This record gives sequence, structure tokens and C-alpha cells, in this order.
Amino acid sequence: MRVGLAYNVKPADPPDHLPEDAFEEYDSEATVGHICGALSLLGHDVRRIPAGAGFVDALRDSRPDIVFNIAEGEGGRCREAHVPAVLEMLGLPYVGSDPLTLSVTLDKPVAKKLVSYEGFPTPEFRTYRSAAEFGEPPLPFPVIVKPAFEGSSKGVRLSSRAASFEQAREMVRFVTETYRQEALVEAFAPGAEVTVGVLGNDPPRVAGMMEIVPKTVPRGEFVYSLEVKRDWENQVSYRVPPALPKATLAEIERCALGIYRALGCRDFSRIDFRLDAGGIPQFIECNPLPGLSPGYGDLPIMTERMGMPYLSLIGEILSHALIRLGMAQA
Ligand SMILES: Nc1ncnc2c1ncn2[C@@H]1O[C@H](COP(=O)(O)OP(=O)(O)OP(=O)(O)O)[C@@H](O)[C@H]1O
Ligand SMILES: [Mg+2]
Repeated sequence: MRVGLAYNVKPADPPDHLPEDAFEEYDSEATVGHICGALSLLGHDVRRIPAGAGFVDALRDSRPDIVFNIAEGEGGRCREAHVPAVLEMLGLPYVGSDPLTLSVTLDKPVAKKLVSYEGFPTPEFRTYRSAAEFGEPPLPFPVIVKPAFEGSSKGVRLSSRAASFEQAREMVRFVTETYRQEALVEAFAPGAEVTVGVLGNDPPRVAGMMEIVPKTVPRGEFVYSLEVKRDWENQVSYRVPPALPKATLAEIERCALGIYRALGCRDFSRIDFRLDAGGIPQFIECNPLPGLSPGYGDLPIMTERMGMPYLSLIGEILSHALIRLGMAQA
């Protein structure tokens, strides 16, 4: 089968005036190479189709039977929807979630509203357009302050956990001025951090749960921030499965599958939780385009530790899409 890979790579020479993490969510050439290599080993004729202004022409030249989409897009809060929206307009089948799901999950306040409407716990929150708007202490401290629509810990620093009004207001200023979007201020959940890989459709299944365990700070102060992700070997260890009571794991699994369905995820996603002070799993965010870098992305790390090699992960994601689209037998 001819499989097109739609992607955005980190630019080689990022302009100096942008924040240091401006291109954090984009993939490296190495990751693109790993996915192409896996798809080739699975017997497919793979074509690279860079997202961006030349996307439609590249698509026309490569004429794929299906597009494996990992493109993060460029621009505002609908950027992840651009590639799938174009593919739908052209009637081309693709792997992964549709434009609506990619948009509502990128905008964390919107995702949290949908998830809480369905009865799943998520930390209380407010949004602010500027530091001047941040007048009254909105919630008990500590809180976390993060950009409303970023990923890959863009705009999330060690200092994003704010224990005072002054620190929180400073972080609201940092987020709104640096990332030109609303700041999400939410109750800080101090318990264990667990990320969940979900694969498939009708029905989807939990492929793995992984606890992110801080090595250098107490759990109650831990933030899986940009600084930590860039130095992950020294800062964290990963536990698969998490060292948590069976009932807690069962509750995380129930929430993950319910949220995957509520947000309309397809084929694959990774959903992040943190336990609150009472041990209740709280939804933090959902990633329908989780990083697929082998040995670095949380999803490939957890599935590998669950006994699923990288090749099988890529193969399973593609085959869920093919079955959903009626292009292969279950
Ligand atoms: N309400 C919260 N309570 C405690 N910690 C939080 C909360 N929200 C975020 N965090 C911490 O900040 C980290 C990054 O937040 P979040 O997952 O929302 O950002 P992201 O950039 O979208 O992440 P990803 O890299 O998974 O795309 C979380 O992994 C967690 O450690
Ligand atoms: Mg996250």
C-alpha cells in the first residue's frame, strides 16, 4: 500500500526572536525517519509529505492510498486540524483523529469543559488574557499556570507551579506575553503522574499506563516541564505499570477509555492524569497526536515496556485506521 507520512520537522535554524521552545512540538528528522522505516519494514511504499504551504502539491505528486498523519500544523489553536481538514476536503483517508477532535484537545480549557460535562474529574480552572486581568486569587494555592493551547511542555517550566499570588501573576504575564494566548490557571494536583496509551476503535483498549516518577524533587512539587523533558534521563524514571493500588489503576483506565470516547479520539492517543491530594485521578490533557519517537516519546516507551516493539506499535496504529475505514479486514 502507498502510505504518505504528513509531518512538520523542527527548523534547522530557528529565528532568535522566538521563545526557546517555539518549535518544541515538531518532530526531528530522526523521528520521521524511524516512522518511515517502520512503515517500509511493514511492506508499504512510503512517501514523505511535509505539511505547510506545499502540502497540497506534495500530496498530488505522491498519490497515497492513506496518509499517516503526525503533523502538528502551524498557527493558532486549530493548527493540528489543518492537515486532516485538507485530506477530508480531497476525500483522502488518513490515520488518526479528525479536525474537531484535534482542535478541542489542543485547546485545554475546551477539552476540560467537555470532559467534566461527561462526569470525569479535572482540576478546577480559570483563564486570563493578561496579568492585569488576574486580580483576585482564583483558587487555593498552589496552582499551575500554562498556555491554553500548547503541547510538548511548551510554556510549562519548573516555575509554572505557583505557590503565591505574585508568582502566579508573573507566570500569567509570562504565558500571555510570550505565547500570545490565554493563560490557564488550574488547581495543582500533587499526587502521582500517570500517562495512558489508548489504541484502537470499537472498542479501544488501554495499551499501557506509565507513571512518571521524579528523581530530584518531591512528588508534590513535581512538574513534567520543559526543563525535565530535555534532561529526562537525570530527572525522571518511568514505571510500567505504575506503583499504585489496583483500584486506582482501574479508575484511571475507566477514565481514559471514557475520555477517549468523549473527545472522539480515533486509532491512538495518550491521555495524561495526575492524582489529587485525595488520590482521585484528575484529567490533565489528551494528546491525539502523541510523540512517536522511539525511546523518547512516552507512548513508544510505555508500549515497548509492555512488550510491544516499535514496529508493532506503528503497525497496530495503521491497521486500526485501515479497519475503521473499511480498507482491511479486522
Ligand atoms: N493541574 C495540574 N496539576 C499538577 N501538575 C500539572 C497540572 N497540569 C499540568 N501539570 C504538570 O505539567 C506537565 C505538563 O502539562 P500538560 O500535560 O498540560 O502540558 P503539555 O505541554 O500539553 O504536555 P505534553 O508534553 O504531554 O503534550 C504535566 O505533565 C504535569 O507534570
Ligand atoms: Mg501532557
